[in-house]
Amino acid sequence: MIEEEILRLKEERNALILAHNYQPPELLEIADHCGDSLELSRAAAATDCDVVLFCGVDFMAQTAAVLSPEKTVILPETDACCPMSQMIRPQDVRSLKKEHPGAAVVCYVNTSAQVKAESDICCTSANGVAVVNSLPEKEIVFIPDRNLAAYVASKTDKRIIAWPGFCHVHDRYRAQDVLAARTLHPEAEVLVHPECRPEVVDLADGVYSTSGMAKHARASAASEFIIGTEVGMIYRLVQDNPDKHFFPLKEGTVCLDMKKITLKKVLRSLETLQPRITVPEQVAIRAKKAIDRMLAI
Ligand code: 13P
Ligand code: SF4
Repeated sequence: MIEEEILRLKEERNALILAHNYQPPELLEIADHCGDSLELSRAAAATDCDVVLFCGVDFMAQTAAVLSPEKTVILPETDACCPMSQMIRPQDVRSLKKEHPGAAVVCYVNTSAQVKAESDICCTSANGVAVVNSLPEKEIVFIPDRNLAAYVASKTDKRIIAWPGFCHVHDRYRAQDVLAARTLHPEAEVLVHPECRPEVVDLADGVYSTSGMAKHARASAASEFIIGTEVGMIYRLVQDNPDKHFFPLKEGTVCLDMKKITLKKVLRSLETLQPRITVPEQVAIRAKKAIDRMLAI
């Protein structure tokens, strides 16, 4: 069986397999850790394995490479890229800093290492509000997700200057989707990701990172949930809570980039230790400062 071969090679290579919550079930099953971006960054920073194999998208593997330059970091499919992370370039950040000289730059983890290198501090969907509130500056340039920026702005007194990037998966939800889902499942709690539009966030019962949703669903007394995030999340929620029911806020909200990694590609990567993700040292040193500052919160 391919899974057995992967596990055997994983031991041989002294590799750690990390999988984002949106990964296909067969990859979640073979991973050492499944989680949201913050949990996976922490796991990548803490491991003493020689190899970190990432089942996720480019920026996640890059973050691991920045945190652990001495390790071999592998992304089994280099074409697995988060489109939102490509909506802002380092030169855009430099222009923003010139336009707003007194502001701190907070970059969402869904950015390239080059963009992180231009930023003061990184954040994830799990800690965006805490990161912004930890800063002395009153003015914050928040990049690249306009929806996460709006959510953070609603929870802080700081002046938030947002970049107009977005996640094409979460940005598809509309207020009418929440109203329609509530009509179909009136007892259900509505849980959404902060990458959703404000009109969706405003109608939700809770706004969480993917692992925040998992934690909330376990703890909640409710037995039905409407889930406003990438549809792969529902597998993890059902596994954790076999007696509860989960309904997608809208059908067909799939991040195709999160589905590009397969068991076959993982096996091949463990055999060849390719494709390896590396970040130029001068970029990595600066990007690490922004990530470490976040991890210290
Ligand atoms: P989380 O950090 O909440 O898992 O989100 C990552 C992501 O890409 C959401 O679309
Ligand atoms: Fe990027 Fe959205 Fe896919 Fe997450 S779900 S990786 S933010 S495109």
